[in-house]
Amino acid sequence: MGGAEDLGVPVPQDARLRRLAAAFQSRFGRPPAAVAAAPGRANLIGEHLDYNEGHVLPVAIDRSVMAAFAPRPDGRVRLYSLDFEQESAFDLQEIERDPEAPWSDYVRGVAWALREAGHGLLGLDAALQGDVPIGAGLSSSAALEVACLGAFEAASGLRLDRRDLALLGQRAENHFVGVSCGVMDQMTAVLGRAGHALLIDCRSLEYENVPLPLQGLRLVVADSGVRRALLGSQYNVRRQECRQAAELLSAAISDRPVAALRDVSLEDLARHGGDLPPNLRKRARHVVEEERRVLASVEALRRGDVEAFGEMLDASHRSLRDDFEVSCPELDLLVELARVQPGVLGARLTGAGFGGCTVNLVRANALEDFREQVVERYCSQTGREGRMHVCRAADGLSLRRFQPPEGQPYGHELTAEKPGGEESL
Ligand code: GLA
Repeated sequence: MGGAEDLGVPVPQDARLRRLAAAFQSRFGRPPAAVAAAPGRANLIGEHLDYNEGHVLPVAIDRSVMAAFAPRPDGRVRLYSLDFEQESAFDLQEIERDPEAPWSDYVRGVAWALREAGHGLLGLDAALQGDVPIGAGLSSSAALEVACLGAFEAASGLRLDRRDLALLGQRAENHFVGVSCGVMDQMTAVLGRAGHALLIDCRSLEYENVPLPLQGLRLVVADSGVRRALLGSQYNVRRQECRQAAELLSAAISDRPVAALRDVSLEDLARHGGDLPPNLRKRARHVVEEERRVLASVEALRRGDVEAFGEMLDASHRSLRDDFEVSCPELDLLVELARVQPGVLGARLTGAGFGGCTVNLVRANALEDFREQVVERYCSQTGREGRMHVCRAADGLSLRRFQPPEGQPYGHELTAEKPGGEESL
């Protein structure tokens, strides 16, 4: 027992690339030109803050969606998903959703968003494969969107600002697929960096890659196996509640503008919170305190104080459970089992909540215990299929050329491309 499989480490990239290239060749009768890969994410802290215009601190994880692609001159897009073993095709001139292949809507959506923003696109053949667990709250959809944005961008010889690329992914999801989300997931899939968390100011979209001092520690994502159909509607309810709370507080606070809960201080809440209906008061308290926890977490990481950071994670979970009310019994159980393990420094739900995953800061020598005492106990107590994934902080969108381009459809170098342009907050 206790091999790499059990501990949830990823399949080597090269094996995935070979399989993807072979699938592309057999589907489309030619080799791919390049592969775009974009990661899933685990949010370390700063939950439900992106749409409140606050700060978030996610990591891109070493689980990704890969798109092997080659351009086509005829404006046609042919897709093949290895995971769904299904094809879907469309013309760039007429992009609609495909109810037979809903996974393709994310690809259709980014093509739609790019064109709507005025970018001229070439068609594509693309084979897609991912190892980001689907529906687990690790942003497999943002990974798919961003990988395909990278593919369309490269194939069409475009060079977009990295933040604009992330915003186009969000736009595709909001307005084409029809799912409300903030900008955190797409920003992370584009701009994550190995060994770093990504601090994003979700108002200005300034960002900074913050080094993670995790020597001897591992980020463990524990999947509760709970998939909530209610997720979308509850998420929208929370967004609405936050908007209402901000409006009510804005009317009460006269010395400065309050455009979002980001602008509310602890003192404001102490003074005016009592006037809010109890549920809105709790939502606001989560946002205001979580914003402070994010900034304090960054300070703790900069000091190398991983214990203090772990305590922030614990506090964030309590707040999401009691004030924001987006946890569920399964997530609470995973967190409780983790918290009593001596090798676990912090644990909290990650992502929107109502199911999905927790993120845990675990000593490297305690992974086996985590599997036995947390995951296996969880499975036997709930009858659910719990899983753990040991994750590394990985790079965002990357492009890897399969062969030198012939006929030059590419406007820029594809190999090992990383966005530069780090900006301080
Ligand atoms: C989902 C959304 C994100 C963010 C989180 C909560 O993952 O896609 O934009 O709002 O929930 O932090």
